[in-house]
Amino acid sequence: MAIKSVIGGQWGDEGKGKLVDWLSEDADYCIRFQGGANAGHTITLDGGVFKLRLLPSGILRGADAILGAGMALNLDVLSSEVEDIERRLKVSLEDSIHIDAKAHLVLPTHIYEDIVREEQSGNRIGTTRNGIGLCYEDRARRVGIRAGDLLDTRSLRDKVVVFLEAHGQYTLFQFDKLMGILEEWADIWRGFVRTDMTSFLHEIFKDKEIVIEGAQGTLLDISHGTYPYVTSSHTIAPSIGASLGCALPRDTEVIGVFKAYCTRVGKGDFLSEDLGVDGDKLQAIGKEVGVVTQRRRRCGWLNLDDLIYAHQLNGFTQIALTKVDVLDGFEQVKVWYQDQMHLLDGWVGSGEAKSWEELPENLIKFISFIEERSGVPVGIVSNGPSRSQTIVREVSNED
Ligand code: IMP
Repeated sequence: MAIKSVIGGQWGDEGKGKLVDWLSEDADYCIRFQGGANAGHTITLDGGVFKLRLLPSGILRGADAILGAGMALNLDVLSSEVEDIERRLKVSLEDSIHIDAKAHLVLPTHIYEDIVREEQSGNRIGTTRNGIGLCYEDRARRVGIRAGDLLDTRSLRDKVVVFLEAHGQYTLFQFDKLMGILEEWADIWRGFVRTDMTSFLHEIFKDKEIVIEGAQGTLLDISHGTYPYVTSSHTIAPSIGASLGCALPRDTEVIGVFKAYCTRVGKGDFLSEDLGVDGDKLQAIGKEVGVVTQRRRRCGWLNLDDLIYAHQLNGFTQIALTKVDVLDGFEQVKVWYQDQMHLLDGWVGSGEAKSWEELPENLIKFISFIEERSGVPVGIVSNGPSRSQTIVREVSNED
């Protein structure tokens, strides 16, 4: 029973949430290892659409949620998510959330400073303005407040003093106000914080069904992405163990999620971007608007050079190709490969397919084009937002 990890292969928004939900049908635990409320994972169920920013999508299937040490946690956002799920699904999540004591907390000061920096510098990076980078900066300069600090409000006072000193003009709150917020969070979240996460993970990695959900995408990785237009955490598979604080079993699956085309929010190079009518069409049909920021996403075509790079970074065991139905009706589709655009014949009707055999022939050719050049099999195709619109390739045992 291999652990399944799900990693965005592009600049985020590849459809990881839907895939994680789908993979989590029998999961005992679903884990986030990095990032924070800058993520926005959309899952469409019979009960409506859920947009999750912190809780891993498997929580909607009844899996326990683990929020790992590498995360930047906004506990107010977490409270809203918990309330929303409990109210709409009529469940209690009281015993279903495990927060690593080492996870860093996003404080109002971080969000404020993120907004001020972006505005004063003319939208420097185009962040989601959730204070994520600021929180990780505090981690690096050793002045951050961690979830585990909520367990001892006396020593927390000293840490708040250090934090406020480090933030000078941006403190936003005086000591009493910030302590008040943290004490409120402590009352709510104390019981969810685990100080034994490494040994807990080591145990559950032995025999539990586990899905690990990456946030953002490979090209937003702090070191290996399109720096400086990146997020502030490691988003790639080799970083999962370090972010969680536990070695992963060798047979862990790494599923790379790619849209059949490509989108990006915020600034930075986008070689296969389509600034013409096709780009507008992709944006409209794919409803490409940011879940968190409501920004219109930039749209373009699949970049196979980037996909190959992403595979080298992550070691994908398979690819999940998503939103193939958005390309239905394009006479020709494009793929960026070896620094130039290649034209392939388009397809219709992929959204109605119920099995691999029913997928349009030209989509299969598109998939072969990717597989032959990257050496990674495409094992899953998502052809619509609902759970049932997920097609798995049956592996033939004949040869
Ligand atoms: P930050 O993560 O909010 O600091 O933003 C840094 C960059 O990452 C910006 O270009 C954001 O648009 C991008 N980004 C962060 N999270 C996501 C995401 O979940 N999907 C897509 N882009 C994201």
